[in-house]
Amino acid sequence: MRRLSLLCCSLLLSYPLQATQVEVMHWWTSGGEANAVAEIKQQWRAQGGQWQDFAVTGGGGKSAMAVLRSRALAATPPTAAQIKGSELLEWARLGLLRDLNDLAQNQRWDLRLPGFVRSTLSHQGHYVAVPIGIHRVNWLWFNRDLFTRLGLVPPRNWDALQALAPPLLAAGITPLAIGNDPWQLTILFEALVLGEAGHDFYRRAFINLEADQLDSPTMVALLQRFKALRALVPQRFAGLSWNQATAMVVDGRAAMQLMGDWAKGELTQAGLPPGSNIGCLPAPGNDGIFSYNIDSIAMFSLRDPAQQAAQAQLANLLMTPELQIPFNQKKGSIPALAGLPMEQFDSCARQASQALAQAQQDGHLLPSLAEGMATSSYVLQAVSDVLSHFFNDPNQTAEQASHRLRRAMLAAR
Ligand code: GAL
Repeated sequence: MRRLSLLCCSLLLSYPLQATQVEVMHWWTSGGEANAVAEIKQQWRAQGGQWQDFAVTGGGGKSAMAVLRSRALAATPPTAAQIKGSELLEWARLGLLRDLNDLAQNQRWDLRLPGFVRSTLSHQGHYVAVPIGIHRVNWLWFNRDLFTRLGLVPPRNWDALQALAPPLLAAGITPLAIGNDPWQLTILFEALVLGEAGHDFYRRAFINLEADQLDSPTMVALLQRFKALRALVPQRFAGLSWNQATAMVVDGRAAMQLMGDWAKGELTQAGLPPGSNIGCLPAPGNDGIFSYNIDSIAMFSLRDPAQQAAQAQLANLLMTPELQIPFNQKKGSIPALAGLPMEQFDSCARQASQALAQAQQDGHLLPSLAEGMATSSYVLQAVSDVLSHFFNDPNQTAEQASHRLRRAMLAAR
């Protein structure tokens, strides 16, 4: 597989190079994210391309997608955009995305990508985006020195995580770094569901949307545990971005963060690769489970032949090992291209690569709910809203929240 991917890339580099201008929309604006996207810009410019950055701040991309919809409605879409998961298929159904099957076929994408990546990026059997990285969402990041100094150990289950609150709070340390953002709260809830109720319940509730699971006693118990975590969050919880939360763990104001491995991009950019003071572990109870989030770039259907050529050239670049290795090293993800050497990656990335292979074998590779891989964007929006209101409403009971979850998810299906 590796030789084939290198053969493909050497063929790719013979692709005719043209000085072309592309406008690309993305939300990679944190330190680590910007560091990663700079790799794409640098390689694109080295090919004689011009890059117009259409960056929209806001972790998780909700703001970016709102801005992109307005651009598309005005019939002035960019050349390309960071669109992923189910959102991608919703755009594809509108006929707004370029069918990339011609490129994919002559560059043998089917042989170079894992099956779950192929299926996530295909609409009616046609590729509608270029995959560049695979993030693992269900990670626990922790400040090693802090744990050592306080004689504590990182939690391997949710009881142990909650039991850390008293000693950490007594030491003036925030146990759980997180911002009051529905997207961040959904990542926390997803790790809790997988860790406490397991992959089978997660599949039935959040992939199959089985109504009797959505307000089951199991769900009520999960929501009760979720609400209890409110006592572990920062004082300055409202408006805290995911990367500000990561910074709290780095500087020791907080002990832990449940976040995808784009958090590692912040560490890399700050010169703190894993294995130094910040450690990575599967989220509590999540050992053996890999919740995936595939980052991809879609190309809009444009009439201008020069833009079409630029799109093809950008897709070629994104699908080379020469791009995907440095990009993912900086982004905190692992390459979407299968079989690339992982020796040049940090210990957490190598752990993610091994965990992905094992999860694929065991059937424990799951699409991330929080990252729009498991359900439609409408269902995700409904879930995030219910969770966010519940987490912040001291009077709402877990039973009430479970009924709201069921109603909202079934209505949004
Ligand atoms: C995700 C995206 C990641 C990461 C994160 C934080 O949706 O797929 O690449 O950047 O948002 O903004």
